[in-house]
Amino acid sequence: MKITFTDSEQAFYTLTASRIANTIRQLPTAVIGLATGRTTTGVHEALCELWRAQPFDTSRVTVFGMDEITNVSRSFPGSCYDMLLRQVVRPLGIPMEHFLMPPTFSDDFARECKAFEAAIAERGGVDLQILGIGENGHLGFNQPSTPFDSTTWISRMDEKLDERIRRESGSSPDADLGGFTIGIKNIMMSRKIILAANGANKAEIIFKALRGKITPDIPASVLQLHPFTEVILDPAAAAMLH
Ligand code: GLP
Repeated sequence: MKITFTDSEQAFYTLTASRIANTIRQLPTAVIGLATGRTTTGVHEALCELWRAQPFDTSRVTVFGMDEITNVSRSFPGSCYDMLLRQVVRPLGIPMEHFLMPPTFSDDFARECKAFEAAIAERGGVDLQILGIGENGHLGFNQPSTPFDSTTWISRMDEKLDERIRRESGSSPDADLGGFTIGIKNIMMSRKIILAANGANKAEIIFKALRGKITPDIPASVLQLHPFTEVILDPAAAAMLH
């Protein structure tokens, strides 16, 4: 595992974004897995800035979202679809047919999970997977105790997030909110992985995931086993490593 320390939050966003930009510059047909959240929102802003300063060809790259909330509308501003569309796909002019997202509604999610994996495989698999990390070590919607051999599946939404999404999206109380997510095994099959973490609230889990035991109790600890993973940290998230 390569660990890259940055000296400010802004440098963290810019460096992480430059890894994505350079991947596209070197391999214009790259397949890149993206994550949503506070961390990657800053990374995506920095990516757009890099592109505006020095444009690169985005007409052949494929981007996909590693996870999605089920049973909310795609037009809900908290859906991963909407976030990636606004933050990356539209500003960079990536053609819509090169934007792969899990569906939010389906009468057969098991089939959708297989179809999503197949769509990524058809494009040659994942060249670069960008990951954020949850405070409990989750990756995507793979919460603690998810088996390392898991493939794309629908996980249970944790209670806090469930409540928040229900409130913000105005979902009915009986809507079955879940987390459509690529599994740990899928993540590990990426040719290159970048785990990006910033902020003091991530310091403890970063320490545990990087220096602790490799265990499904801390999903991100599995990355210790991946040969081409880079962890990019801002000073606050790196605090316990020094
Ligand atoms: C969510 C997403 C993950 C993301 C994580 C961290 O649960 N499903 O893909 O990596 O949260 O989010 P943040 O960057 O907001 O801390």
